[in-house]
Amino acid sequence: METKELAPGLCLGIEVIDGQHARFFELMNRMVASDTLDGNRELVAEVLAEMVAYVHDHFQTEEELMERFEYPDMMAHVVKHAQFAAIVENFHEKYVNEEIGLDDEVMGYLVEWFTEHIRVEDPKYVELFKANGVV
Ligand SMILES: [Fe+2]
Ligand SMILES: [Fe+2]
Repeated sequence: METKELAPGLCLGIEVIDGQHARFFELMNRMVASDTLDGNRELVAEVLAEMVAYVHDHFQTEEELMERFEYPDMMAHVVKHAQFAAIVENFHEKYVNEEIGLDDEVMGYLVEWFTEHIRVEDPKYVELFKANGVV
């Protein structure tokens, strides 16, 4: 799988969130590199555990801001976050239990979901956050 990074067109102009979004791609690339270069399941599992923590932290950052500024569509957004977090957790668990490997289909799905979420869902809160001084 080719390496990916946060495309400039996907930047929201909010530093803390753009930084976190970029980290998703860094973790994905590290996961792929640990798998293809080292073939090291333990290393991949470590990065996957970091990804589980990352997803939790990132979604929490957005949700705290949504709550603070009373973002009207918060519930729908939170549901999407929860679904993705569950998928990542499940992937981690299955990988650790050696039920699955790091296949292109799963990795592609994660990248696609995240990219699409940044492109379509996250921009919806940007105006509200910026109006409240989040830069
Ligand atoms: Fe996000
Ligand atoms: Fe989000």
